Amino acid sequence: MKHLLSIDDLTGDQLHDVLDLASNFADVQAREVRKVPALRGKTIVLAFFEDSTRTRTSFDLAARRLSADVINFSAGSSSLKKGESLRDTIETITAMGVDAIVIRHASSGVPSTIRQWTDAAVVNAGDGWHQHPTQALLDSFTIREHFGSLAGKRIALCGDIVHSRVARSNVAAFSKLGAEVVLIAPRTLLPSNIDGWDATIETDLDAVLPDLDVAYFLRIQKERMAESLIPSEREYRARYGLTTERAAMLSPEALIMHPGPMNRGIEIDPEVADDKRAVVLNQVANGIPVRMAILFSVLGPGQFDEVDSPRASGGQP
Ligand code: NCD
Repeated sequence: MKHLLSIDDLTGDQLHDVLDLASNFADVQAREVRKVPALRGKTIVLAFFEDSTRTRTSFDLAARRLSADVINFSAGSSSLKKGESLRDTIETITAMGVDAIVIRHASSGVPSTIRQWTDAAVVNAGDGWHQHPTQALLDSFTIREHFGSLAGKRIALCGDIVHSRVARSNVAAFSKLGAEVVLIAPRTLLPSNIDGWDATIETDLDAVLPDLDVAYFLRIQKERMAESLIPSEREYRARYGLTTERAAMLSPEALIMHPGPMNRGIEIDPEVADDKRAVVLNQVANGIPVRMAILFSVLGPGQFDEVDSPRASGGQP
């Protein structure tokens, strides 16, 4: 794997391989010394052209725990402000000798485009409404960790589907891993065409809830809404929010998930976000071993043995 741009580029077997590698890195995270020398000497640039808390921090920690050098590039404080083009910026970063560029950008397709301007590996950390493949992998990891497998599981994604790169990536990943995926949203927040999505649409959230293994709620993305697509937040919560009453309709064994950041009180009630079935913070924690696995897959020698050698586990150079 040279780049990670989209879940669509990976087969179910490849997804399993990354998740297996992530399990090994999760074991490393449980050790006293959490760092391995797997990517020593490699330089990774985190180029975030759009705000982020968890994705950026998680990539940063993942890269450091693999002993890579990390450079944080912020669009807000760069020469982009002086009018430098994205191409010049990427070529400048590349000229400094970097091995991987982890990129987040508000425009769909940017990670794919920059491949023409750099010989570094490119990892998509979220592009517009398009894809967020590392989120899909960490969500898949979280579900697999809990249930052992996604095969045959019924997973609903509820909320602002149309603006969601998380929905696009997760539907692809969950279905490739054998889950049955259901989308629930008001018509204004569903894509006009879901041909090519391996999912079905349901309109009645209450009818679906009792049969779910995973209830995955998405953020209402106010910043991406050109016009008012919901009548009011109150009404949205009443029809599509995971309220305390609705959480009671879910099975005691079901998982409640959200990629964060959460709008508590809109798509999810504050108490439900803290319910014992909610794994939102596990998702965050799993982001680190999953991103270690991804960085290792694009930059490492391609063999996990290398990571788990006595030299690696001892943390000795
Ligand atoms: C998501 C994103 O940025 O796409 N957040 C994340 O990466 N955890 C989802 C969102 O912003 O709603």
